[in-house]
Amino acid sequence: MRIRIKDIKEKDIDKIINVKGWVRSIRNSKEFSFIVLNDGSNLAGLQIVVDQNTKDYPKIIEKISTGCSLSITGKLVKSPGKEQAFELKAESIEILGECDAESYPLQKKKHTFEFLRTIAHLRPRTNTFGAIARTRNALAYATHKFFQENGFLYLNSPIITASDCEGAGQMFRVTTLDLEKLPKDKNGKINFEQDFFGKSTFLTVSGQLEGETYACALSDIYTFGPSFRAENSNTSRHLAEFWMIEPEMAFADLKDDMNCAENYLKYCLKYVLENCQEDMNFFDKFIQKGTIEKLQHILNNPFERLDYTKAIDILKNASKNFEYSVEWGSDLQSEHERYLAEEYFKKPVILINYPQEIKSFYMKQNNDNKTVAAMDVLIAGVGEIIGGSQREDNLDLLVKRMDELNLPKENYWWYLDLRKYGSVPHAGFGLGFERLVLFVTGMENIRDVIPFPRYPGHAEF
Ligand code: 4AD
Ligand code: MG
Repeated sequence: MRIRIKDIKEKDIDKIINVKGWVRSIRNSKEFSFIVLNDGSNLAGLQIVVDQNTKDYPKIIEKISTGCSLSITGKLVKSPGKEQAFELKAESIEILGECDAESYPLQKKKHTFEFLRTIAHLRPRTNTFGAIARTRNALAYATHKFFQENGFLYLNSPIITASDCEGAGQMFRVTTLDLEKLPKDKNGKINFEQDFFGKSTFLTVSGQLEGETYACALSDIYTFGPSFRAENSNTSRHLAEFWMIEPEMAFADLKDDMNCAENYLKYCLKYVLENCQEDMNFFDKFIQKGTIEKLQHILNNPFERLDYTKAIDILKNASKNFEYSVEWGSDLQSEHERYLAEEYFKKPVILINYPQEIKSFYMKQNNDNKTVAAMDVLIAGVGEIIGGSQREDNLDLLVKRMDELNLPKENYWWYLDLRKYGSVPHAGFGLGFERLVLFVTGMENIRDVIPFPRYPGHAEF
């Protein structure tokens, strides 16, 4: 029976076990060879000793190179080396798949992340990308655990939609129309009535609006699914396809929203510190020094909560030279967000009460008639990791705002119904999952924390 390498324990010493995996490295000397075998279940892999006691030795060694897949049976022993607790004395080796040493792109030297992006199908076989995959998985598990333990219901919101949640017009069109022969209406415009759904449809930018409908029936829900944005921003923080977690709570205001966001983030950080120690140590040593301390510091301190208006004062008085200047009413750039979290407060900051003009139509209007009950959570290295708000639950105010923004109300009739039939105060937020993985691992580019990144000009694999 095959055992996963991470499951090998002290009690298995002196037992005959079988492991399967890929060769990370092989070192040959006159009388024996060392193979490091990795099956992805952990970072370190297992050291295999191949010698006279191994069937077909030394012939078998000639066919084994980095990247080969092997099934190895042998006896587990205490390792004399300091690097590992045990090693396997191979009795028999079966080569499952040979690997052409000439052309295999993952040789034992260090590769740049840019290069590894061009072989995204093989990069999970490197230490860094294996560690990222395991940590990403742990964060997804922690997400479900947090919301389930707190009574939230997991909701699958649609991927194809006719409404633009953020109203920013950054949507990818979904169509089955023949692009060579587009049907036209009498005004010469494309006739989407003949399209698959009988209307214009797109990939969703957010599941929030549908999430609100379920929150306004089941109280607390969360979504965790893909979101798509056709924003042409070639940055290290943006993807065209990313995963978002969107909780929505009925009978909740902005303060409840902030509390939930802070508790959820801290829960995730604590979870990886406790459950991904080997990978976290790796990130701390090789990717970003001090990553573990960075996470611990966040766990031990309350987030700073601050009005947008106060933040503008701080930014205007900062001695730092920003590329973009700020005035009350301007949208904050990543450099401003990072300054507040990294340099000024030195901890996560929740900015609230933004000017209405720079936020989405659905946010609750404050009594001052200029700001809305919005919140963004800003963290070091990333900037905005969470965006959320209390929602406008007053039908008249919501309709007025939609009219001001020229939004086609007919597409949102069902959303408006929520304000007609038993409207309740409610609030929610969206966390960009890759930005969380980026922060936790200390990686620099968001394209390296999702298995197959999609960004302008890139949809390979
Ligand atoms: O601030 P955003 O646009 O908010 C919403 O979509 C709301 N509907 C959420 C809600 O209230 N339910 O996006 C939320 C988060 C951002 O804070 C950011 O972390 C992430 O989603 N995000 C992206 N991540 C990667 N690439 C992109 N292009 C992203 N755009 C937003
Ligand atoms: Mg935002």
